[in-house]
Amino acid sequence: MTTSYWIVVLPGDGIGREIVDAALDVLETVQTLYGRFSLIYEYHQAGAQCFRETGAAITPEALKAFQRTDSTLKGPVGLPDVRRPDGTEAGLLGGELRVRFDLYANVRPIRLFPNVDGPLGNRDPDRIDYVIVRENCEGLYLSRGKGITTAQAATDTLLMTAQGCERISRFAFNLARNKKRGAPQDGRKRVTLVDKSNVLKSFAFFRNIFLKTAQDFPDIETGCLYVDAAAAALVNRPEHFQVIVTENMFGDILSDLGGATVGGLGMCPGANIGDKLSYFEPIHGSAPDIAGRNLANPTSQILAAGMMLRHLGETEAAALLEDSVWELYAQNRIPLTSTGAVEGGPSVVVKELKQVIKVLAGRR
Ligand code: IPM
Ligand code: MN
Repeated sequence: MTTSYWIVVLPGDGIGREIVDAALDVLETVQTLYGRFSLIYEYHQAGAQCFRETGAAITPEALKAFQRTDSTLKGPVGLPDVRRPDGTEAGLLGGELRVRFDLYANVRPIRLFPNVDGPLGNRDPDRIDYVIVRENCEGLYLSRGKGITTAQAATDTLLMTAQGCERISRFAFNLARNKKRGAPQDGRKRVTLVDKSNVLKSFAFFRNIFLKTAQDFPDIETGCLYVDAAAAALVNRPEHFQVIVTENMFGDILSDLGGATVGGLGMCPGANIGDKLSYFEPIHGSAPDIAGRNLANPTSQILAAGMMLRHLGETEAAALLEDSVWELYAQNRIPLTSTGAVEGGPSVVVKELKQVIKVLAGRR
């Protein structure tokens, strides 16, 4: 029997369309080879261009579809010149979808692939393989659009709730349990809370709840780090980490830092997961400067599609896709530039990757 999944596609802005097309192309190959599921797509408009044309970052039809679909594949959004009168960027979907639909877990795997030059020098690719679980619905960013500005001062408020801290901690422990591989350093399953509990009450509150939740997971090692020390550790000893859980803004910052250590954000997918709904995206922006110039690296978007398959329960297909991306880089088939772009753009990656997928599928 074939299971059908209904997927909303939001191509977004800039390089969005080309990398989303690439991901869908690759998904089709996986689907054809597995034959056990089919994906039905419904395209919708969202992002900065949508804001420019309609006055909203996402259309009402897209919002409606988003709430009923099995999942959503989203491209990067945003254009530098599309702004609100207060100077903030318009057309971003983070606040719109994550908070509105309570997609509280932002899951960002940071993995170094073979033959990808990172700024850390010649590190064994197997040494960086951890996941950042960023709390997605509260923390400092809950103040998005709600801060107070006067002529003399401005303020934003950081909010932590007991429910929010507990569910994100629990999510991180379950992820550590289910992730096959432990920390590269010692194979241990380990969740590290990153906070600033030495300075702020809100983080001390989070830490207490995290440590209490940890008692339900005696099989998982627990650690805590202050965010400044964590930033250093992600550069100096990334192999120590398996799963990191942290507040919204800290997760935003640390995931870009982590992305830089594995050759750039073009390598990094992300998932936004709630109890019912979810969407999958690259963690980078829409890079309008290279759009349409055959330079974009679609790896992040393809890996996001892989995460989506896993979330839908198509674990074998997801593993095939992920293993194929690893193999693709191991065979050094992608002409990466020093800035992380791909010479020839998405079509080169798709062509090479499809060949690898066919070979790996044949062996399974
Ligand atoms: C991200 C982005 C968004 C965020 C922006 C574009 C609103 O930086 O997904 O990491 O802050 O979460
Ligand atoms: Mn970010």
